[in-house]
Amino acid sequence: MARLLVTGGAGFIGSNFVHHVVAHTDDSVTVLDKLTYAGNRASLAGLPEDRVSFVEGDIADAELVDALFRDVDAVVHFAAESHNDNSLNDPRPFLDTNIIGTYTLLEAARKHDVRFHHISTDEVYGDLELDDPARFTETTPYNPSSPYSSTKAGSDLLVRAWVRSFGVRATISNCSNNYGPYQHVEKFIPRQITNVIRGIRPKLYGTGENVRDWIHADDHSSAVLTILERGQIGQTYLIGADGEQNNKDVVELILELMDAPRDAYDLVTDRPGHDLRYAIDSTRLRTELGWQPRYQDFRAGLAATIEWYRDNEAWWAPAKDGVEAFYASKGQ
Ligand code: NAD
Ligand code: TYD
Repeated sequence: MARLLVTGGAGFIGSNFVHHVVAHTDDSVTVLDKLTYAGNRASLAGLPEDRVSFVEGDIADAELVDALFRDVDAVVHFAAESHNDNSLNDPRPFLDTNIIGTYTLLEAARKHDVRFHHISTDEVYGDLELDDPARFTETTPYNPSSPYSSTKAGSDLLVRAWVRSFGVRATISNCSNNYGPYQHVEKFIPRQITNVIRGIRPKLYGTGENVRDWIHADDHSSAVLTILERGQIGQTYLIGADGEQNNKDVVELILELMDAPRDAYDLVTDRPGHDLRYAIDSTRLRTELGWQPRYQDFRAGLAATIEWYRDNEAWWAPAKDGVEAFYASKGQ
């Protein structure tokens, strides 16, 4: 049994991870989360109070972080500003949280010699051409496109430097696009599902040809636990489930699964600098650590996710109008 500190545990992937840890281990969890617009305590509802505690605070608050690191065995660092479209609108919070926040945690990990796992994204590698058979590997050069992905790339490099220079016991994972319950309605899949529920037509950026490599958030969680338990210190692991789909196909599948005409969507203004394609080669994680994804059927996973949004309107409704007003102001 270990004591975990999970930063960003009230966000999408962090909350899925806390649910996964409670279901699959004996570990106890302290969540540190600032409860920005993206954090939601309701995502942790129903978890046992004797195993999960919550601290509201900022990962860039060195005093708070130092106190929390005294009493834990390992830290899993999810907290981030995570949305590309927001980073194009106002990059500053991305620097504060993703760079300074990660730096603050690394200094505490160094001081208290705490095992540290850093959650990152495949977007640090930039993008691939649509017709290129290549996929990202752990040796692909960093080439981030947006303020979001560049600050995530910066945070990864800080982790690598703290391992090499100060002996911090850290690992890094770079995962592809996640879907599943508790994802904020600003993101692609929940936005389109909740649009259809509300009678709004889904919105595809540009021509809808951009490709993302989808993985269920619960598979991301099992991969992170695997790395935490068996990963080699200083190593980077790519996490992916061979789920490449272009955005148009995803929207058409959502419409079909929700009994709407498959062409009932709008093409809208493209995202500036929009990455074309992401694709993950997760061979290292599978062969060296023996990890396998469980959610191989995207259609079934998407259908379950649609059910979750239908059943949990009270969770997402408060954010929906504000998100749509933001997108409308940009012609999206
Ligand atoms: P999210 O935006 O849903 O959640 C982020 C959480 O961090 C929120 O609860 C927020 O309140 C909290 N937070 C933000 N700033 C904070 C701060 N300064 N101090 C403490 N807490 C703070 O994000 P997500 O989609 O769950 O992403 C989690 C992590 O996974 C991020 O590091 C992201 O880069 C990475 N990631 C995401 C995806 C994806 O598809 N969403 C894919 C790969 C990697
Ligand atoms: P998003 O969920 O923002 O994730 P990321 O930018 O990290 O990949 O977007 C996923 C894809 O969907 C991306 O190619 C942008 C596109 N997209 C749309 O076409 N329409 C939308 O309304 C949104 C939010 C995203």
